[in-house]
Amino acid sequence: MDSDLINGAEWGNFEFKSVQEKDFGAVLTHLRDSFYKDEPTQIVMGMTEDRANDLDDRIRTFLVNGMSFMAICKVTRKIAGVVVMEDCFKDKKYPVLTPTSPITPKVRHFFTILEDSVNIFEKYGVEKYAAIFILSVHQDFRGCGLATEMFRRAVQVLKLMSYSIIECTFSNPFSRRIGEKFGFIEVSRTKYVDAKDAQGNFFMLHAKPDQFVNMTILDLRETQ
Ligand SMILES: CC(C)(COP(=O)(O)OP(=O)(O)OC[C@H]1O[C@@H](n2cnc3c(N)ncnc32)[C@H](O)[C@@H]1OP(=O)(O)O)[C@@H](O)C(=O)NCCC(=O)NCCS
Repeated sequence: MDSDLINGAEWGNFEFKSVQEKDFGAVLTHLRDSFYKDEPTQIVMGMTEDRANDLDDRIRTFLVNGMSFMAICKVTRKIAGVVVMEDCFKDKKYPVLTPTSPITPKVRHFFTILEDSVNIFEKYGVEKYAAIFILSVHQDFRGCGLATEMFRRAVQVLKLMSYSIIECTFSNPFSRRIGEKFGFIEVSRTKYVDAKDAQGNFFMLHAKPDQFVNMTILDLRETQ
């Protein structure tokens, strides 16, 4: 992604940079330390080395599109935050990945049901849309507005790339608040306790009763 909103851009103690192939290892290490540990779905389901490897494999398939970017702390040179984005178009062929963890098919099924509950192409009359797939800030840099700033830049970049629809699925109340601030509207919601696996068995009954994941949409045609 070659945008001056990202490459060479600075905000406070951070500089932004698009994720290139040579960064994949460092980005996945950041996600293991931050997103895999603290994203609510991973907390509810538990994290194992197999599960982390499955997530690494899945995320690598998104990083190759060149749309993701990171924030680097100018002082420590550590990756402070990462945004992973996806371009979605009709008949897109997703790589078939063989999971090693028994958790992975369950979580994948849960999110597939949520995604399938709204046909974004039909509902919004578009041939393509963008998804903000992961928003992650390292524990050392949280609570100072970095996720909000990265989200703002992601939306601006996608607008410049001529997407009219952006989808974002939220599991974390803090990031959900960011989406609401930028005008994302909920189109579907599922509570963890209602989640069933492909065999029809509940598998997240131990989640808090009010914990949920919601799919939201920003229609940029309405904000012109
Ligand atoms: C969610 C996450 C990306 C937020 O990053 P962040 O840089 O701390 O977020 P910001 O500083 O931009 O804050 C966003 C909002 O959450 C609020 N917030 C953040 N941390 C908070 C905390 N510990 N307690 C209360 N509110 C908090 C902020 O006040 C802000 O809301 P406001 O603008 O109404 O004040 C980060 O916590 C994270 O990486 N979590 C683990 C991965 C995850 O769950 N990702 C999102 C999946 S949908």
